[in-house]
Amino acid sequence: MNAKPPSSFRHVFIPGKSRRTLLLLHGTGGNEHDLLSLGRNLDPEASLLSPRGKILENGLPRFFRRLAEGVFDEEDLIHRSNELADFIAETVTSYSLDSGRIYAVGYSNGANIAASLLLLRPGVLTGAALLRAMVPLTPEVLPKLNGISVLMLSGRYDPIVPEENARRLEALLTSAGATVSLHFENAAHQLTENTLETVRGWLNTQPS
Ligand code: MLT
Repeated sequence: MNAKPPSSFRHVFIPGKSRRTLLLLHGTGGNEHDLLSLGRNLDPEASLLSPRGKILENGLPRFFRRLAEGVFDEEDLIHRSNELADFIAETVTSYSLDSGRIYAVGYSNGANIAASLLLLRPGVLTGAALLRAMVPLTPEVLPKLNGISVLMLSGRYDPIVPEENARRLEALLTSAGATVSLHFENAAHQLTENTLETVRGWLNTQPS
Protein backbone atom coordinates (compact mmCIF):
# COMPACT_ATOMS: atom_id res chain seq x y z
CA MET A 1 0.00 0.00 0.00
CA ASN A 2 1.25 3.49 -0.89
CA ALA A 3 2.14 5.47 2.27
CA LYS A 4 0.14 8.53 1.25
CA PRO A 5 -3.64 8.04 1.15
CA PRO A 6 -5.54 10.16 -1.40
CA SER A 7 -6.66 13.45 0.11
CA SER A 8 -9.10 14.78 -2.50
CA PHE A 9 -12.07 13.35 -0.55
CA ARG A 10 -12.46 12.88 3.16
CA HIS A 11 -12.99 9.12 3.37
CA VAL A 12 -12.68 5.90 5.29
CA PHE A 13 -10.90 2.92 3.79
CA ILE A 14 -11.09 -0.49 5.47
CA PRO A 15 -9.01 -3.18 3.80
CA GLY A 16 -10.71 -6.51 3.21
CA LYS A 17 -9.73 -10.08 2.48
CA SER A 18 -11.15 -10.48 -1.03
CA ARG A 19 -10.39 -8.64 -4.28
CA ARG A 20 -13.72 -6.81 -4.18
CA THR A 21 -14.17 -3.22 -3.03
CA LEU A 22 -17.52 -1.78 -2.04
CA LEU A 23 -17.66 1.94 -2.78
CA LEU A 24 -20.18 3.21 -0.24
CA LEU A 25 -21.98 6.42 -1.21
CA HIS A 26 -24.18 8.00 1.42
CA GLY A 27 -27.42 9.94 1.03
CA THR A 28 -28.00 13.66 1.71
CA GLY A 29 -27.00 14.50 5.26
CA GLY A 30 -24.87 11.41 5.63
CA ASN A 31 -21.14 11.03 5.93
CA GLU A 32 -18.31 8.57 5.34
CA HIS A 33 -19.22 6.56 8.45
CA ASP A 34 -22.91 6.04 7.65
CA LEU A 35 -22.79 2.97 5.44
CA LEU A 36 -19.79 1.18 6.92
CA SER A 37 -21.75 -1.31 8.99
CA LEU A 38 -24.17 -1.86 6.11
CA GLY A 39 -21.23 -2.50 3.79
CA ARG A 40 -19.62 -4.97 6.19
CA ASN A 41 -22.96 -6.65 6.64
CA LEU A 42 -23.38 -6.97 2.87
CA ASP A 43 -19.93 -8.44 2.37
CA PRO A 44 -17.71 -9.49 5.31
CA GLU A 45 -14.68 -9.94 3.04
CA ALA A 46 -14.67 -6.87 0.77
CA SER A 47 -12.60 -3.75 1.21
CA LEU A 48 -14.77 -0.77 2.06
CA LEU A 49 -14.15 2.66 0.56
CA SER A 50 -16.45 5.36 1.81
CA PRO A 51 -16.01 9.00 0.76
CA ARG A 52 -17.92 11.99 2.10
CA GLY A 53 -19.74 14.19 -0.42
CA LYS A 54 -18.14 17.63 -0.67
CA ILE A 55 -21.22 19.76 -1.13
CA LEU A 56 -22.95 21.20 1.91
CA GLU A 57 -26.64 21.98 1.63
CA ASN A 58 -27.68 23.78 4.80
CA GLY A 59 -24.86 21.94 6.53
CA LEU A 60 -25.85 18.55 5.08
CA PRO A 61 -23.21 16.75 2.98
CA ARG A 62 -24.12 15.72 -0.57
CA PHE A 63 -22.19 14.55 -3.62
CA PHE A 64 -23.44 17.33 -5.95
CA ARG A 65 -25.59 20.45 -5.91
CA ARG A 66 -29.29 20.49 -6.59
CA LEU A 67 -31.54 23.39 -7.48
CA ALA A 68 -34.61 21.82 -5.86
CA GLU A 69 -35.75 18.36 -4.76
CA GLY A 70 -35.05 16.14 -7.78
CA VAL A 71 -33.75 19.03 -9.91
CA PHE A 72 -30.00 18.78 -10.28
CA ASP A 73 -27.32 21.35 -11.09
CA GLU A 74 -26.00 19.49 -14.12
CA GLU A 75 -22.76 21.43 -14.46
CA ASP A 76 -21.89 20.69 -10.85
CA LEU A 77 -22.98 17.07 -11.20
CA ILE A 78 -20.62 16.57 -14.16
CA HIS A 79 -17.77 18.24 -12.30
CA ARG A 80 -18.35 16.26 -9.10
CA SER A 81 -18.70 12.97 -10.97
CA ASN A 82 -15.33 13.49 -12.63
CA GLU A 83 -13.79 14.47 -9.31
CA LEU A 84 -15.13 11.31 -7.66
CA ALA A 85 -14.01 9.13 -10.59
CA ASP A 86 -10.50 10.59 -10.32
CA PHE A 87 -10.49 9.94 -6.57
CA ILE A 88 -11.46 6.30 -7.16
CA ALA A 89 -8.64 5.94 -9.69
CA GLU A 90 -6.22 7.35 -7.10
CA THR A 91 -7.40 4.92 -4.43
CA VAL A 92 -6.86 2.00 -6.83
CA THR A 93 -3.17 2.92 -6.87
CA SER A 94 -2.79 4.01 -3.24
CA TYR A 95 -4.63 1.10 -1.68
CA SER A 96 -3.69 -1.47 -4.35
CA LEU A 97 -7.31 -2.19 -5.25
CA ASP A 98 -8.44 -4.44 -8.08
CA SER A 99 -9.96 -1.96 -10.54
CA GLY A 100 -12.02 -4.78 -12.03
CA ARG A 101 -13.89 -5.43 -8.78
CA ILE A 102 -15.23 -2.05 -7.69
CA TYR A 103 -18.92 -2.15 -6.83
CA ALA A 104 -20.77 0.98 -5.80
CA VAL A 105 -23.49 0.72 -3.19
CA GLY A 106 -25.22 4.08 -3.21
CA TYR A 107 -28.27 5.32 -1.38
CA SER A 108 -30.40 8.22 -2.65
CA ASN A 109 -28.00 11.07 -3.48
CA GLY A 110 -25.19 8.48 -3.36
CA ALA A 111 -27.10 6.25 -5.79
CA ASN A 112 -27.58 9.21 -8.11
CA ILE A 113 -23.88 10.01 -8.27
CA ALA A 114 -23.13 6.31 -8.78
CA ALA A 115 -25.52 6.33 -11.76
CA SER A 116 -23.80 9.47 -13.02
CA LEU A 117 -20.39 7.74 -12.72
CA LEU A 118 -21.72 4.89 -14.86
CA LEU A 119 -23.05 7.30 -17.49
CA LEU A 120 -20.10 9.72 -17.58
CA ARG A 121 -17.07 7.68 -16.55
CA PRO A 122 -17.67 4.08 -17.65
CA GLY A 123 -14.79 1.84 -16.64
CA VAL A 124 -14.56 3.17 -13.09
CA LEU A 125 -17.22 0.87 -11.65
CA THR A 126 -17.57 -2.87 -12.22
CA GLY A 127 -21.13 -2.84 -11.00
CA ALA A 128 -23.52 -0.83 -8.88
CA ALA A 129 -26.36 -1.32 -6.44
CA LEU A 130 -28.49 1.80 -6.81
CA LEU A 131 -30.84 2.18 -3.87
CA ARG A 132 -33.70 4.66 -4.49
CA ALA A 133 -31.96 6.15 -7.54
CA MET A 134 -33.31 8.53 -10.15
CA VAL A 135 -32.04 9.72 -13.55
CA PRO A 136 -29.12 12.01 -12.67
CA LEU A 137 -28.67 13.32 -16.22
CA THR A 138 -28.97 12.16 -19.81
CA PRO A 139 -25.55 12.13 -21.48
CA GLU A 140 -25.22 13.41 -25.06
CA VAL A 141 -23.44 10.22 -26.03
CA LEU A 142 -24.38 6.96 -24.37
CA PRO A 143 -21.44 5.15 -22.73
CA LYS A 144 -20.68 1.51 -23.44
CA LEU A 145 -21.66 -0.39 -20.31
CA ASN A 146 -21.52 -3.92 -21.68
CA GLY A 147 -20.49 -6.34 -18.95
CA ILE A 148 -21.57 -3.95 -16.19
CA SER A 149 -24.14 -5.28 -13.76
CA VAL A 150 -26.58 -2.90 -12.06
CA LEU A 151 -29.10 -3.66 -9.35
CA MET A 152 -31.77 -1.01 -8.89
CA LEU A 153 -33.95 -1.15 -5.79
CA SER A 154 -36.73 1.39 -5.83
CA GLY A 155 -39.61 2.08 -3.50
CA ARG A 156 -43.14 1.63 -4.82
CA TYR A 157 -44.30 4.39 -2.48
CA ASP A 158 -41.22 6.61 -2.76
CA PRO A 159 -42.44 10.25 -2.62
CA ILE A 160 -39.07 11.46 -4.00
CA VAL A 161 -38.52 9.10 -6.94
CA PRO A 162 -41.59 8.42 -9.12
CA GLU A 163 -41.78 4.92 -10.62
CA GLU A 164 -41.57 6.40 -14.11
CA ASN A 165 -38.23 8.04 -13.27
CA ALA A 166 -36.72 4.79 -11.96
CA ARG A 167 -37.91 3.02 -15.11
CA ARG A 168 -36.30 5.73 -17.25
CA LEU A 169 -32.96 5.17 -15.51
CA GLU A 170 -33.32 1.43 -16.05
CA ALA A 171 -33.98 2.04 -19.78
CA LEU A 172 -31.04 4.45 -20.08
CA LEU A 173 -28.56 2.04 -18.49
CA THR A 174 -29.96 -0.90 -20.45
CA SER A 175 -29.66 0.94 -23.76
CA ALA A 176 -26.03 1.65 -22.85
CA GLY A 177 -25.49 -2.11 -22.62
CA ALA A 178 -25.58 -2.69 -18.84
CA THR A 179 -27.38 -5.70 -17.38
CA VAL A 180 -29.95 -4.05 -15.14
CA SER A 181 -32.19 -5.69 -12.63
CA LEU A 182 -34.88 -3.33 -11.30
CA HIS A 183 -37.00 -4.30 -8.30
CA PHE A 184 -39.80 -2.30 -6.72
CA GLU A 185 -40.08 -2.88 -3.01
CA ASN A 186 -43.11 -2.28 -0.82
CA ALA A 187 -41.31 0.71 0.66
CA ALA A 188 -40.91 4.45 0.42
CA HIS A 189 -37.50 6.21 0.26
CA GLN A 190 -36.08 4.48 3.34
CA LEU A 191 -34.20 1.21 3.04
CA THR A 192 -35.68 -1.97 4.45
CA GLU A 193 -34.39 -5.36 5.56
CA ASN A 194 -35.51 -6.65 2.17
CA THR A 195 -33.30 -4.07 0.43
CA LEU A 196 -30.25 -5.43 2.21
CA GLU A 197 -31.17 -9.06 1.56
CA THR A 198 -31.60 -8.34 -2.14
CA VAL A 199 -28.27 -6.49 -2.41
CA ARG A 200 -26.53 -9.32 -0.56
CA GLY A 201 -28.04 -11.88 -2.94
CA TRP A 202 -27.01 -9.82 -5.97
CA LEU A 203 -23.44 -9.41 -4.69
CA ASN A 204 -23.23 -13.17 -4.29
CA THR A 205 -23.78 -13.49 -8.04
CA GLN A 206 -20.90 -11.09 -8.81
CA PRO A 207 -17.18 -11.93 -8.86
CA SER A 208 -15.57 -11.21 -5.50
C1 MLT B 1 -31.89 13.33 -1.83
O1 MLT B 1 -32.56 13.80 -0.93
O2 MLT B 1 -30.72 13.04 -1.69
C2 MLT B 1 -32.57 13.15 -3.13
O3 MLT B 1 -33.55 12.28 -2.99
C3 MLT B 1 -31.69 12.66 -4.18
C4 MLT B 1 -30.74 13.72 -4.63
O4 MLT B 1 -30.98 14.88 -4.38
O5 MLT B 1 -29.75 13.34 -5.26
